[in-house]
Amino acid sequence: MERTLAIIKPDATKKRIIGKIIARIEQEGFTIVRMKLVHLTKDEAKGFYIVHKDKGFYDSLCEFMSSGPVVLMVLEAENAIKLWREVMGATDPAQAKPGTLRHTHGFSIERNTVHGSDARDTAEWEISYFFKK
Ligand code: CMP
Repeated sequence: MERTLAIIKPDATKKRIIGKIIARIEQEGFTIVRMKLVHLTKDEAKGFYIVHKDKGFYDSLCEFMSSGPVVLMVLEAENAIKLWREVMGATDPAQAKPGTLRHTHGFSIERNTVHGSDARDTAEWEISYFFKK
């Protein structure tokens, strides 16, 4: 079994589609092992996305991620990291396959509805950033 961090982003909580996204997560066979609704501070968002600190979109991304509530979840499944990335779809909703969450609900490459860890080491780091053992 593998674990990944999933975030339902502020664009999605604002649109009141938390329930739809969680229903999809359960349909796909994930077990939600930790979950909380929080309003991140800009500093918390900056810390979480520190790997992107040199990118042109960093400030805007952190502003967006602290603009409203987010749902933080630890998902467990076999190959959870890859499976959740498939369910989310490509980062840019315009490039995401039909049926993926970002294709269905995403607004832009920044306001793209959900986040998921991209590898085992980042999943471990991202989970520990938000959830104490
Ligand atoms: P996420 O999977 O959370 O990882 C980094 C986030 O940065 C990404 O989703 C988008 O929200 C955002 N992002 C990535 N690339 C761009 C970009 N070119 N312009 C604006 N935001 C971006």
